[in-house]
Amino acid sequence: MRQQSSENHLVTQVNPKSPISESYRVLRTNIQFSAIDDHSVQVLMVASAKSGEGKTTTVSNLAVTYAQEGKKVLLIDGDLRKPSLHQLFQQTNRVGLTSLLCGQQLLQEVIRDTNVDNLSLITSGPIPPNPSEILGSQRMVALLAELRETYDVILFDTPPVLAVTDSAIISSYCDGVILVVHAGKVKKGLVAKAKSNLDHVKAKLLGVVLNNNSRNKSNDDYYFYYGGNE
Ligand SMILES: Nc1ncnc2c1ncn2[C@@H]1O[C@H](COP(=O)(O)OP(=O)(O)O)[C@@H](O)[C@H]1O
Ligand SMILES: [Mg+2]
Repeated sequence: MRQQSSENHLVTQVNPKSPISESYRVLRTNIQFSAIDDHSVQVLMVASAKSGEGKTTTVSNLAVTYAQEGKKVLLIDGDLRKPSLHQLFQQTNRVGLTSLLCGQQLLQEVIRDTNVDNLSLITSGPIPPNPSEILGSQRMVALLAELRETYDVILFDTPPVLAVTDSAIISSYCDGVILVVHAGKVKKGLVAKAKSNLDHVKAKLLGVVLNNNSRNKSNDDYYFYYGGNE
């Protein structure tokens, strides 16, 4: 099966019956199973050691997959360094999470519908000089408490774990973390370091997605292996 370029398209939306979309549904199911003995996994983030490993791709397709199941889903761009969800969903980024956390906009002004039913989006908003402080603010804590009342599933896109502390901060709001590893590209040591950074802040790692996106570029293959509880 040939796909077009993966830029600006979400396979789960465009081609929900494809094997790739099925693999996102498997991931969704595995996340649900990982919560059996635990609290339910309502707030999730997708992390990776470095950039370009597939965080944005994974979290967006996962969000679409939850929405297709009928869940009320909110996707938040927590990558305040190099945001990209607005591009993927073809939305303006004039206002977003940062405008909300700085008190310039109200929640209802920054939450947008997407062209996927049940899926809402908060883009990053303008890039601030102090992303870590903003993400760690009391406003952010209060925001998450409020959003938990409204949405079944809340997903965060994040910057690389090894680059900045932002993703560790975001993990403190999450019930679970999915680690994306670009298989074959990122050295084991870096993955281990990313994991230990997340462990250090007591993030709950639910599993690892091996995203082998260089295996066959012309076909844009997506491969996912769920790593259980590691
Ligand atoms: N499994 C995959 N197969 C093909 N292309 C992929 C896959 N995962 C990611 N990509 C592409 O790789 C690039 C980087 O992915 P992205 O999700 O933006 O990574 P990150 O958010 O971790 O920086 C994007 O162009 C994306 O479309
Ligand atoms: Mg990204």
